Amino acid sequence: MKRISTILCTVIALLTAFHLIQPRQSLAYFMDWEQYKKNVLFHQNTIPGWCCQEKAEHMMDLIYEVQPEICVEIGVFGGSSIYPTASALKFLKQGTIHAIDSWSSPDCVEGYASDDSNYQWWNKVDLEQVYLDFVNMLDHFRLSPYCAVMRMTGLKALDQFADESIDILHIDGNHTEDVALSDAQMYLPKVKKGGYIWFDDVNWLTTHRALEFLELHCTKDEMRSTNEYFLLRKNS
Ligand SMILES: C[S@@+](CC[C@H](N)C(=O)[O-])C[C@H]1O[C@@H](n2cnc3c(N)ncnc32)[C@H](O)[C@@H]1O
Repeated sequence: MKRISTILCTVIALLTAFHLIQPRQSLAYFMDWEQYKKNVLFHQNTIPGWCCQEKAEHMMDLIYEVQPEICVEIGVFGGSSIYPTASALKFLKQGTIHAIDSWSSPDCVEGYASDDSNYQWWNKVDLEQVYLDFVNMLDHFRLSPYCAVMRMTGLKALDQFADESIDILHIDGNHTEDVALSDAQMYLPKVKKGGYIWFDDVNWLTTHRALEFLELHCTKDEMRSTNEYFLLRKNS
């Protein structure tokens, strides 16, 4: 067994040396990635937010596959989805995740009636502290070179992105019908043809109009979608 793995490693080293395969396609690189991903996912549990481990792993694998330059997330909170994203970019040593969130109560409660449980929850949470903890988390895990923090609404950030420039977009901001739809309508033109869109909380009634709009222009990736989030690919 040991002999077979020695032979395999030698063959891979020779193929890499003679440029017959790229270092990033080698088995050793892939095994390093699997180990790196395990470590990242171990810490991901400790970061405030709602990104489950399954989604975090899907997000990391998509980055490994696409090797993006420009990723954008609308709705960051404590960074539970930014952390795996920025960590995957750090492994590749390329790309930036633009983390857009205003961390402001009025933006969070916009569109909710004052007796709605969402209104009450977002009105109580200390978003200033969530923001400070997020920035410290980036620093702690040495992720700042891969994450551009944009403390503003999705609307205000829009002009910073050229049309068809975004490789991977994640829409997870205010979930009211109007804001979710407007995030989808504003940002779809910014995504490259063939680029990807994560859309969260597909099981909320209020996100359905946004989803219907996106599905007119994108194809759902059945393998990486669940009943809580979808991965969509913009049609060419
Ligand atoms: C559901 S949380 C994001 C969760 C995060 N993506 C995760 O996986 O843990 C929604 C976030 O959207 C932000 N938000 C609300 N309205 C926004 C807007 N108009 N533009 C950008 N961010 C907004 C809130 O401050 C909040 O942190």
